[in-house]
Amino acid sequence: MDKRIYLSAPDITGNEIKYAMDAFQSNWIAPLGPNVDAFEKMFIERVGAKSALALSSGTAAIHLAVKYLGVNPGDEVFCSALTFAGSCFPICYEGGQPVFIDSEPDSWNMSPSALERALDDSKKRNKLPKAVVVVNVYGQSADMDAILPLCEDYGVPVLEDAAESLGACYKGRNSGTFGYFGAFSFNGNKIVTTSGGGMLVSDDAEAIEKCRFWSTQSREKVLHYEHVEIGYNYRLSNILAGVGMGQLEQLDQKIEKRKSIFAKYKEAFSAIEEIEMFPIPSWSQPNYWLSVILINEKSRVSPQKVLDALAQNNIEARPVWKPMHLQPVFAKNAFFPHFQDGESVSEHLYHWGICLPSGTGLTDAELDRVIETIKKLF
Ligand SMILES: Cc1ncc(COP(=O)(O)O)c(C=O)c1O
Repeated sequence: MDKRIYLSAPDITGNEIKYAMDAFQSNWIAPLGPNVDAFEKMFIERVGAKSALALSSGTAAIHLAVKYLGVNPGDEVFCSALTFAGSCFPICYEGGQPVFIDSEPDSWNMSPSALERALDDSKKRNKLPKAVVVVNVYGQSADMDAILPLCEDYGVPVLEDAAESLGACYKGRNSGTFGYFGAFSFNGNKIVTTSGGGMLVSDDAEAIEKCRFWSTQSREKVLHYEHVEIGYNYRLSNILAGVGMGQLEQLDQKIEKRKSIFAKYKEAFSAIEEIEMFPIPSWSQPNYWLSVILINEKSRVSPQKVLDALAQNNIEARPVWKPMHLQPVFAKNAFFPHFQDGESVSEHLYHWGICLPSGTGLTDAELDRVIETIKKLF
C-alpha cells in the first residue's frame, strides 16, 4: 500500500523546534511567558490588528468574543451555515441560539441577500441578533463590503471567524480584521499550526484585556486567589507559542505552496467538464488553505465514487462541510437560504464538493497520485 496522503498535515520546517526549545531551556513551561508575548506581537504585525490574545483553541477565541458581545440565554446569534461546528458551538456555551445563514455561490461564504432577509425578519420580530459570526471558509474571505454595511445598518457587531483564513486578504486587507473581533485557529490541520491553539484579535485593546482576564480564570490582581467572575483556563502554552512563531515566520511561503497546489489541480482538471474548482472572486486573495472541487450535478461519476477511489488509494479527502442547519444537534434552529424559493447553496456544496489533499508538505509525486486517481474516473 502506498504511503498515506493526508488532507492537510502539519509541516514543521523552520524555527519551530528552536523556539520551543527556548521555552524548555528557560523553564518557561507555562501558559504564559516570552514566547506567548512574542507570538502575539508577531501576529499583530502580520495581520494588522491593534491587539491580540493567544489562546488554547480557535473555539476558545470565539467563545470569549461571544461572551464579550453580551450573548445571554435565549439571545439569537447569526452564523454562516457552511462551516465547522467550532464557529457556532460557543454561541450555545452562553445559552444563545444560532440562526444559520446560507452561502452565496460566488465565494461559498455568507450570502448577503440571505443575511438581509434574516436581519429584516429579526427586526420585525423585535429580536435583533446579538452578533453575526461571519466565517471565511476554506481560506477565502466573505464579501465584506456587502455584509458589513448591512450589519452596521442594524447595529449588530460582527465576529469574523478567520480560523481557516490566516494570511488571506479581502481587497488587499487582511482577513480577520474586518469584524469587531477576529478569531483564528492553529489546529493541526491549519495553514499555521501549534498542534492546537487560537488567537483573538481586535482593535479594541480593552476588549482584548477583558478576554485575557477571563482566559486566565478571572483572577483578580491580588496575591491570594480572588474571583469576582467565572473564568476559563484558555491560554496558549509558552512551548506551543514557540511552535506558532516558527510557523508564522513561514506564512508567505506556505500560502505560495498551497496556491501552487491549487493551480496544479486546476490545470489537471481543466479538460474535465464535470469538475469545477472552488471559485475565487476578483476581490479575493485566498490563502488556499484547502483545494476544493465541485462535481457537476450531471456528472457520470458521483462525489462518493471519487471519495471511494481516493480512499482505496490511501488518500484522505472529505466532503465539503456538512452545513450546520443539517446537523441533528441544530435540527430546530432557523435557517435562511440564499434563494428566495428556499433552494440552498450550502446544501448543494455539501453534496457535490470534495476537499482534496492540500498540505504544504505534499510532494509532486503525491500530488500526481491524487490527480491520476481522479482523472482515471472521468
Ligand atoms: C471555520 C472554523 N471555525 C472554528 C474552528 C475551531 O478552531 P479550533 O479547532 O482551533 O478550536 C475551526 C477549525 O478547527 C474552523 O475551521
